[in-house]
Amino acid sequence: MARAVPEQLAEIQRRLLAWFEGHARDLPFRHDRSPYRVLVAEVMLQQTQAATVGPYLDRFCARFPTPAALAAAPLQEVLAQWQGLGYYRRARYLHAAAVRIVREHGGSVPCAPADLRRLPGVGPYVAAAVASFAFGRDEAAVDANARRVLSRVAGMPDLDDKVARAFVPLGRGPAWNEAVMDLGALICLPRTPRCAHCPLLGVCRAQASGRAAELPLRRPRRVRPSVPVLLLAIRDASGRFGLERRPETGLLAGMWGFPTVEGADAGPLALAADRGLHLRAVEAMEPFRHVFTHRVWEVRPFTAEGDGPLHWVAPAELQDLPLAGPSVRVLRRLAAGALG
Ligand code: ADE
Repeated sequence: MARAVPEQLAEIQRRLLAWFEGHARDLPFRHDRSPYRVLVAEVMLQQTQAATVGPYLDRFCARFPTPAALAAAPLQEVLAQWQGLGYYRRARYLHAAAVRIVREHGGSVPCAPADLRRLPGVGPYVAAAVASFAFGRDEAAVDANARRVLSRVAGMPDLDDKVARAFVPLGRGPAWNEAVMDLGALICLPRTPRCAHCPLLGVCRAQASGRAAELPLRRPRRVRPSVPVLLLAIRDASGRFGLERRPETGLLAGMWGFPTVEGADAGPLALAADRGLHLRAVEAMEPFRHVFTHRVWEVRPFTAEGDGPLHWVAPAELQDLPLAGPSVRVLRRLAAGALG
């Protein structure tokens, strides 16, 4: 393992930390390092861009300021606050993690990576990030940017966890982790690394062997099955939207949305017959794709006026419900159409 870490380890650490002093990104979640806030931020950052997370983090932590407040809140309210971030499983896990923190850790986020990792939805990355950023520990928090940077510096097609840990300078864990992430975001870019501007030029193994753009070896892309889905954006005569709640398990579990049905040959009338709806003025909208972790919906949306046994919601009340992404997208289109 030792030989996987370049001989110039101290030089690499020194140069990157010096570069970081002048180039650190000013990100909203870097100001307040209270453990609970860091935990929420890192869970949000798992699948959402850093630039997007800021306002959501502020709103979420204002509404649920402590693990106890989050644990005591109804899940539906937590999901509603998560609206717009997608991947709602993260919100369910975070809620469950808060319950566990209250029950097993007296309401305080634990500092040991092993305890953190036992929380629902907390994997090696989030555990290391919280231990490092909130508690100052010398853990290696390896997100996608860090994995790319460290793989290249070490010249490893597939970065080893032990190698990542060996890079962390003693007592400088948090700064090191952010420096590596920032180098990955600003210089050590995935396809076109800006090696000429890199503080590690000359000590990076991948650059020296002309392989920077190739490393790390990309895992083969997941093939997601594609599912045709018909979605019926239905309104009643007074302009309320007809929604239903999805089942407690499966895709978009427990979220609200317009009625949908899977299948290439499903039509609005068959859907209406299935749900006992009466439709008027049915019109097709532009189709779109909605990408989930494990599948893609090829959505064929229709608008219609009608009535029937749905949950009818006035436009002003939509914000109180956790809404499924595809329905949010259709609602935005309808709002844009109404304005334009
Ligand atoms: N600083 C703290 N956490 C971070 C993250 N996940 N990405 C970038 N910078 C961070």
